[in-house]
Amino acid sequence: MWLSSSSVGRKFVMALTGAVLVLFVTFHCLMNAVAIFWPAAYNSVCMFLGANWYALVASAGLALFIIVHIIYAVMLTLQNRRARGHERYAISHRPKNVEWSSQNMFVLGIVILAFLVVHMIQFWAKMQLVEVLGCETAIPATAGTLFLQEAFSQVWTPIVYIIAFVALWFHLNHGFWSMFQSVGWDNTAWIPRLKCIGNWWVSIVIALFIAEAIVFTVNAHKDYYKTDEALQQQYISMLAPEVLKDFGPDAVQQISNMPLPQLRQMIEYQMMQLQNPQLLMMYPTMPEEQKTNVRNSVKAFTHLQNFLNYLDGVPAVEINLPEDGAAVAPAAPAQGAMQQAAPAGAAEEVEAVEEVTPAEQPANNQ
Ligand code: HEM
Repeated sequence: MWLSSSSVGRKFVMALTGAVLVLFVTFHCLMNAVAIFWPAAYNSVCMFLGANWYALVASAGLALFIIVHIIYAVMLTLQNRRARGHERYAISHRPKNVEWSSQNMFVLGIVILAFLVVHMIQFWAKMQLVEVLGCETAIPATAGTLFLQEAFSQVWTPIVYIIAFVALWFHLNHGFWSMFQSVGWDNTAWIPRLKCIGNWWVSIVIALFIAEAIVFTVNAHKDYYKTDEALQQQYISMLAPEVLKDFGPDAVQQISNMPLPQLRQMIEYQMMQLQNPQLLMMYPTMPEEQKTNVRNSVKAFTHLQNFLNYLDGVPAVEINLPEDGAAVAPAAPAQGAMQQAAPAGAAEEVEAVEEVTPAEQPANNQ
């Protein structure tokens, strides 16, 4: 086939896939810029994209373009090496007007690929992939700013990113005009103009990426994405549908809209109820339906409590239900800050979410 067997065809494929990747990188840096100015809006965009079919189609398409771009890069590099034979080992043959980046496109590509592997592990695998696989996670998969927090609070992250941005600048700077040349736009008047446009375009994109890495690093080290109250409220509304899916839409809505201080009290109160030694003693002898309700409540409320603990930098707590047939001994109250008396007024606040307590939870909702 012409696209793979001829040199012109291969260059055409490189140019086409390269153009799509330049557009993606441009879109990506603009989307990240939303997180600089409006972190909550950034999370809403992450939620909108999430694992919806349109986002999955776009991601699959993008992955295909990246893979084809890499395969053709290997083919072209091997072809060039074969054509030059031993000559490639001879030094200082480089014509003056051949830029450094054009000589090193393959190596620069490898640096960018290595960055992409790290980047996908830090973000994509924890966001889109876990959503696709339906894994239950401590952090809501669409809370983009919390993944910025996790990634950029690591000291090495901005260093690795800045190295990748520099490699990307050289790679795109050469790739930009060279893709036009590959599709035949090769006249002496336009190439210098395209070089100038490419230079500006790529420099703006990379400058924006660098600014983002700096802002995210500063914010992450201040724990801003964990401690901002508006963001915290947004995270809860993202987590509630996942954690409370067994409890019905009303409970999800109530918890999503509950003011944060009240929610904290309510969860604390529920946790205390679930650790009540009497309830734990009765548990092994409960009818199966009631046991299921208790188990679901324990799972949901420990998840919510532990998410709040994660935001507050407090260790996770655990409630261990007695095993079936286990000796019924007075249960030790679980760890954590749940041992105080019910917070003042908590009982009234809890009334609003009574339907999510074990007794009234729907049966067969395992
Ligand atoms: C400050 C720098 C960057 C930040 C904060 C950032 C952030 C993110 C985030 C949050 C995602 C996950 C989106 C999701 O799955 O919902 C993502 C995905 C991705 N990023 Fe970045 N990114 C940065 C730079 C880059 C650069 C320089 C490249 C390319 C060289 C890149 C390539 C990708 C790719 C290919 C994906 C997967 C997209 C998809 O699944 O559709 N990122 N990035």
